[in-house]
Amino acid sequence: MCGIIGYIGDQASAPIIIKGLKRLEYRGYDSAGIAVLKDGGLQLIRREGKLSNLEAALNLKEMTATLGIGHTRWATHGAPSEVNAHPHLDCTQKIAVVHNGIIENFHQLRHELSGRGHDLRSQTDTEVIAHLIEEAFTGDLYQAVKDALTHIEGSFALAVISSDSPDMLVGARKDSPLIIGVSPKAFFVASDIPAILDYTREIVLLENGEIARLSPQGYLIEQLDGTPVSRKSMTIDWDISAAEKGGFEDFMLKEIHEQPAAVRETLRGRIDENGRVGRVGLDDLGLDDDELRSLKKITIVACGTSLHAGMLAKQVIERWARLPVEVDCSSEFRYRDPILDEGTLVVAITQSGETADTLAGVRIAAELGAKVLAVTNVVGSTITRESDGVLYTFAGPEIGVAATKTLMAQMTALNLFGLLLAQARGRSNHEFAATVAELQRIPEKIASILENTAVLEDWAKTYHQVTDLLFLGRGFSYPMAMEGALKLKEISYIHAEGYPAGEMKHGPIALINPGLPIVVLAPKDSVYEKIVSNIHEAKARGATILAIATVGDKDILSQVEGVFYIPETLETLTPLLSVVPMQLLAYYIAKLRDCNVDQPRNLAKSVTVE
Ligand code: M6R
Repeated sequence: MCGIIGYIGDQASAPIIIKGLKRLEYRGYDSAGIAVLKDGGLQLIRREGKLSNLEAALNLKEMTATLGIGHTRWATHGAPSEVNAHPHLDCTQKIAVVHNGIIENFHQLRHELSGRGHDLRSQTDTEVIAHLIEEAFTGDLYQAVKDALTHIEGSFALAVISSDSPDMLVGARKDSPLIIGVSPKAFFVASDIPAILDYTREIVLLENGEIARLSPQGYLIEQLDGTPVSRKSMTIDWDISAAEKGGFEDFMLKEIHEQPAAVRETLRGRIDENGRVGRVGLDDLGLDDDELRSLKKITIVACGTSLHAGMLAKQVIERWARLPVEVDCSSEFRYRDPILDEGTLVVAITQSGETADTLAGVRIAAELGAKVLAVTNVVGSTITRESDGVLYTFAGPEIGVAATKTLMAQMTALNLFGLLLAQARGRSNHEFAATVAELQRIPEKIASILENTAVLEDWAKTYHQVTDLLFLGRGFSYPMAMEGALKLKEISYIHAEGYPAGEMKHGPIALINPGLPIVVLAPKDSVYEKIVSNIHEAKARGATILAIATVGDKDILSQVEGVFYIPETLETLTPLLSVVPMQLLAYYIAKLRDCNVDQPRNLAKSVTVE
């Protein structure tokens, strides 16, 4: 996720672009850049780090051009650095492009462009677009962008300018957002509404597969195949803070709703034409098939929510690859003198890539000769520099302290890794193809959960004043019971525990008072009958059972006080659905308790100290 903005009008563009980028910084903040017209050419200024670094490098008084584009980056391909910051230029330095999205076939395009003599200076996927436009340009920038886009696979929101076309700004989108802002004497393109709300409240939403040509006098929109589009503008009445949150009350709620996209982006380019996990989108993995084949053991280290992704990964990898997996929280692992050697792969899961305990675990693994694979959401984070390989998740920046969409992306990536490992170890079978196909259906299934939250809001109204709550699960649902409890604890400050349901009778069942609410994860899976028995045990002691069950399971209705249904899916993928109602339940309860869900007390987004 990155933020892009473009301006064409009668005012100096640079201050408007910088102000807009500030409003988009929540979309990415590892580097930023701007390109404006100057003396018949382009002036390009880019800086690594926060937007303030770029601002400090600009002399805005001298930047009077009325056409320009800007970008704030969240790296996906190529580490955060000045050379990888946008805008990117073509060989002639006359065309500038800013991009949000992922070009899936950029390796191939890069190779072809280099073969035709182009000088590609960055490691990004975006730069190929500038060179493709250069090749297609015969005097009409708009047509050249259209032609260039026919070669591109993947997602994009683009803004393009050229010093040869000083009266034109081109915007286009597919699977990444882009809007047009309309004012009497100026027009804008931007990733999101807040970027331009200081200048106009008249917005036109660009739809997938559409391209727009803007001038100081007006704009036109077409589909990429040339079909004209006529669309009226709408007036936005949100304030800036609501707009930054996409109209949601909090970043956490917005990020819960971004989970379908997090799955889609994490899968993008990683499934080949035969429906298998392909290597193309996994080029940072740092492990070839021989290395995957020779592994004797995997040790997973992580903290908090990432640890729950690790607990799930253990089950997934053991099921698919039949390779033993241990899971440890990093803070214990680092002091327990672990047994590791060259046959062990340490998988370190951390969305931020900066968690001190997990980094310490990585250093111990390296000292003992084990290879390290980092699973992280932040390109260029410390862990990516200290590991042998990286499995990136593509959730985009997460602002809310409570991890939601990054967990979803981790679970997606680790499912892919389990399948890749199994493929390399010769264990593919028909279930693999079904799993890959079902993974691609998960986004729409999450979306259907998000549309249907009334039951959860009712539960929150009924139970938001309780002092204790239990979450129970078995098998693949056990790590999610842990996660449900963690979410509730951290944002609502209610005491909650996640427990493997079969363990209750070994002690915790003594805690059950009449009326104690217990959320039980009871999907129709291989341990369904077992969890139903556990429900009866808890009910017999007076607990109030709220079940998360599979749609169509009518039998459970008579056994519990409330049911939230999730769509049917494969057992290994159920956690990607069942976690969503628990995130929402925690959210609704916390809101009713007047808690700050985005910044809970005593917590930090990344824990960089021991
Ligand atoms: O950045 P990391 O994934 O390494 O962070 C690990 C934990 O600090 C993190 O998951 C924390 O538990 C979250 N607040 C959970 O919502």
